[in-house]
Amino acid sequence: MKKVYVTISTDVIHHGHINIIETARKLGEVTIGLMTDKAIANYTRLPLLNYEQRKKVIENIKGVAHVVPQDTLDYVPNLKRLKPDYVVHGTDWRSGVQKGIRERVINTLKEWGGVLVEPEYTKDTPSTQLINQMDEIGTTPEIRLKTLRKLLELKPIVRVLEVHNGITGKIVENVKISDGETVREFDGMWASSLTDATSKGKPDIEYADFTSRMHTVDQILEVTTKPLIFDTDSGGLPEHFVYTVKTLERLGVSAVIIEDKVGPKRNSLFGTDVKQTQDTIENFSYKISQGKKAQITEHFMIIARIESLILKKGLDDAVKRAKAYIEAGADGIMIHSKEKDPKEVLDFCNDYNKFENKVPLVVVPSTYDTITEEELIKAGVNIVIYANHLLRSAYPAMVKTAETILSNQRSYEANEFCLPIKDVLTLIPGGK
Ligand code: SPV
Ligand code: MG
Repeated sequence: MKKVYVTISTDVIHHGHINIIETARKLGEVTIGLMTDKAIANYTRLPLLNYEQRKKVIENIKGVAHVVPQDTLDYVPNLKRLKPDYVVHGTDWRSGVQKGIRERVINTLKEWGGVLVEPEYTKDTPSTQLINQMDEIGTTPEIRLKTLRKLLELKPIVRVLEVHNGITGKIVENVKISDGETVREFDGMWASSLTDATSKGKPDIEYADFTSRMHTVDQILEVTTKPLIFDTDSGGLPEHFVYTVKTLERLGVSAVIIEDKVGPKRNSLFGTDVKQTQDTIENFSYKISQGKKAQITEHFMIIARIESLILKKGLDDAVKRAKAYIEAGADGIMIHSKEKDPKEVLDFCNDYNKFENKVPLVVVPSTYDTITEEELIKAGVNIVIYANHLLRSAYPAMVKTAETILSNQRSYEANEFCLPIKDVLTLIPGGK
């Protein structure tokens, strides 16, 4: 009996997949290489069904003899192990992002005389359509809330970008690039206190109160499905923080970050240029533990943000605090720095990696911005937050347009900086 290998990743099985399996079973005994959740998460959206659930569906399809995990987008490791006589795949991968993977399959099969069989791709399959429809339906607070922990399990680093209104939420939701082999997008959103306050024309001093911050969050949640991390500054009094936790959980926010500062909060990037006071370890640990007690679901995360490096208290203080906050129940640690050089953050990571009791580590490389995600992964970082970039890039563009109109006393010259009118009308679908 000849051996036939077919890779499947999707959780939306349709007649196109059945056509492929039918072709495969005529050639011999069919093994399905089912992509693991990790493999899928690294190149596209998270599957709706997990590996075990998908496996149950696939192994019950007529003609499927075996289901084995495929851990990467690349077929080669499984092919070398199984040495199939045939691989069957639709013609769709001859162009586009999977072209390189196809080449590797052909070359690997050649090593033992295997052949790639490509039945005509079934057009008009409903999967893309279904996925789009599911996105339009949106998500539920419960599903969204859980997603951050799931991403932390599956991805080498969770990539988060700042949002401050519906349209910035849409950008994080939809912007994707492809480098030929994989598709890259943001995994989640950061509800920054700085950009929320700034976009409201207010300073970042906890003056934009919780109710007004919640209006922003509500706007964003209404038009997106990705997980959101909320910046709640110092979190206020423990008596207030417990309500914050409950409100965020109810809305489906995945995590809150509280910073260990007290008194009038000033933005961290001022560093020691302004007076900022760090909370005591005891008080801040108490606030964390009260938040943990108030929490209703097991999935919500309270992330403790350490300001020791910002306030020049040194690495030892930061490390001591990280240990204490984890002990108090923190589900994550954020280490912040305003240096141009990533050294102090990397030194912290180095010490942190030796902890016996570790939780996900978050960084915000706003000033040490030359560091790459690859370097952060190596340092053991789990979440990277690009904390203010959509607002910072929009502002100069808007000022330039305003100045251009003033200079010319008409708007014609500003057109080159503007989205064409026909495009702004259709930017958000459903307006016709
Ligand atoms: C924010 O984005 O509001 C933050 C990060 O808290 S920072 O501005 O660097 O303090
Ligand atoms: Mg902030």
